[in-house]
Amino acid sequence: MKRFAFATASSLAVLAASSVMAEPQAEVLHWWTSGGEAKSVAVLQEEFAANGGTWTDMPVAGGGGDAAMTALRARVLAGNAPTAVQLKGPAIQEWYEEGVLADISNVAEAEGWDKVLPASIAAHMKCEGTWCAAPVNVHRVDWIWANADVLAANGIEMPTTWDEFNAAAEKLQAAGVIPLAHGGQAWQDATVFETVVLGLGGPEFYNKALVELDPEALTSDTMVKVFDQMRTLRGFVDENFSGRDWNLATAMVMNGEAAFQIMGDWAKGEFLAAGKEPGKDFLCASTPGDGYLYNVDSFAMFDVEGDDKRAGQELLAKLIVAPKFQEVFNLNKGSIPARTDVSLDKFDMCAKISAEDMATSSENGSLLPSYAHGMALRGAQAGAITDVVTAHFNSDMSSQEAVQQLADAVANSY
Ligand code: BGC
Repeated sequence: MKRFAFATASSLAVLAASSVMAEPQAEVLHWWTSGGEAKSVAVLQEEFAANGGTWTDMPVAGGGGDAAMTALRARVLAGNAPTAVQLKGPAIQEWYEEGVLADISNVAEAEGWDKVLPASIAAHMKCEGTWCAAPVNVHRVDWIWANADVLAANGIEMPTTWDEFNAAAEKLQAAGVIPLAHGGQAWQDATVFETVVLGLGGPEFYNKALVELDPEALTSDTMVKVFDQMRTLRGFVDENFSGRDWNLATAMVMNGEAAFQIMGDWAKGEFLAAGKEPGKDFLCASTPGDGYLYNVDSFAMFDVEGDDKRAGQELLAKLIVAPKFQEVFNLNKGSIPARTDVSLDKFDMCAKISAEDMATSSENGSLLPSYAHGMALRGAQAGAITDVVTAHFNSDMSSQEAVQQLADAVANSY
């Protein structure tokens, strides 16, 4: 008995030592492939390597992450999940329910995440009370970006209402400038759409329509007006918009070919990576109306075998939420830190506006999850809405027809 007990204790010690000694490995699936995005993810790769980790990169190009999510599904179905995956919002819960996520509570508890993350962000990272994802940032979605010189040359101020936006766009169009740089991809249409829902309907309406999926809100006169505005915006994009990547649309604003882009603040990451300065070369303002649409990037760890991979997951989770990474990564990415204790001293005016507006919105109940970026709804419901938004944007469908299709698509999506 004694011998046996001794043998067990010593083999446990060997096991523990080997897991501590294991060299951290991580295959990381993400969709950060544009200039600003690549610069941001490089920060994590460097820190991982500096801490003894070996990073295997699995980038899947495609803004908004639709292609990355398809690649993920294929890998999980093949029984070969990547170690760490850029995953967010309700999709984290959906994968948890499939029983394929690793529990990272030991890291979260050791690092005191509960003390440094706002409760609303922490809630997205927890699955039935355990920690199942690590947050990277807070991106704001409801932004307008503008070329400062183009606006000045045409005597235009940043619009504060949708009517002002339309008037500015008409003026620019008459002057031969493309008013709105847009990429005709479903997720980009959805991005513009949700800012119009928030702007024209207000925070309460947004919540009813795109979070609660209330049929009355979906078919309301307000939603008819939202589709009217989408039709108006369709008239402000150039004829080559179809299929264009979001970062190429940002480049059109940068080089003065177009005046505005409606896009989340990953667009700021592109401006910054190209050496442009906010307030001088480009302008930022929230899209017309009240409220704040948040989009929190995070990484979930998948249940994989091997001490080296588990060590990689623990190291990654720890680095991602650590203050140094949250500062440097977000300075490049265009977003703000998810942690509340990182100083914004080094951040630009757009980031400061974002942080202030987020605090105000959080107090007055207008801090809302982005449906277009997978924070508000499960995949089936979000997809049903986006299909209608895109079909409307790319056809001559009436607004009345669109709201009817919207309500039907949502009802049939469960
Ligand atoms: C992600 C951002 C990313 C953007 C464009 C968003 O859904 O949250 O991190 O930069 O898509 O790819």
